[in-house]
Amino acid sequence: MLYPERRAAEAELEAAGLLNPGPWIDHSRWCARACERIAHAVPGMEAEKAYCLGLMHDIGRRVGRCKERHMLEGHRYCAERGWTDAARICITHSFMIKDVSSSLGGWDMDEQDYRYMERFVAETSYDDYDRLVQLCDSLALPGGFCLLEQRFVDVCMRYGANENLIPRWRATYDIKDDFSRRAGCPVYDLLPGIRESVFREA
Ligand SMILES: [Fe+2]
Repeated sequence: MLYPERRAAEAELEAAGLLNPGPWIDHSRWCARACERIAHAVPGMEAEKAYCLGLMHDIGRRVGRCKERHMLEGHRYCAERGWTDAARICITHSFMIKDVSSSLGGWDMDEQDYRYMERFVAETSYDDYDRLVQLCDSLALPGGFCLLEQRFVDVCMRYGANENLIPRWRATYDIKDDFSRRAGCPVYDLLPGIRESVFREA
C-alpha cells in the first residue's frame, strides 16, 4: 500500500492529536471527508484512497508547532513507512502552483531541506489525488466543510499575503471547476451539511 488504509490512517491522526493537539486534527478529518465524497462522484477515482490521503496530508504536524516544515516532516514520516503516495501529498498539497516559493507560511527549515522541497515540487508530476487534496484542504475548516473563500481568508489572516496569493486562489478555483465538471455537479453539492457549517463558521 502506498498509503495507510482507513483504520491505520485514522489511528495515525489520533496518535498525532495526542502529540500535538490542535484544530488541525479536525481540519484533516473534514478534508478527508471532502476528498472521499468528491472522489466517489468522479469516474475513475477511488474514494477510499482519497479519504486516506486527505486524512494524512498534514500528518507532519505530529511533531509539534511548525510552519512549512510540517510538509517535510509528514513527507519523511510517510516515506519511512513505505506510504509513498501519502508522502508525496504531504508536500504537494500546498503547491497548486508548482513553485516552492509560492507558499505563504514561514520556512522553518535549513537550506538543504528547502532545496530538497524545491526540487521535489519541481520534479513531481501531480495526479488527480494531489489536485483533490489541494482542493479539499481549502474546503475544510475544523468545524466542517466551508466555502473556498472562507478558508482563503482564514489562511490569509494567519499567514499573511504575498504576490502568490491570488494566483494560488485562481489555481484552486480551476481545480474546483475541473472536479465539478467531472463529477457532473458543483463540488459543494457533494458535501453534506455544508450549508449549516458555512453559516456556523461565519
Ligand atoms: Fe491542511
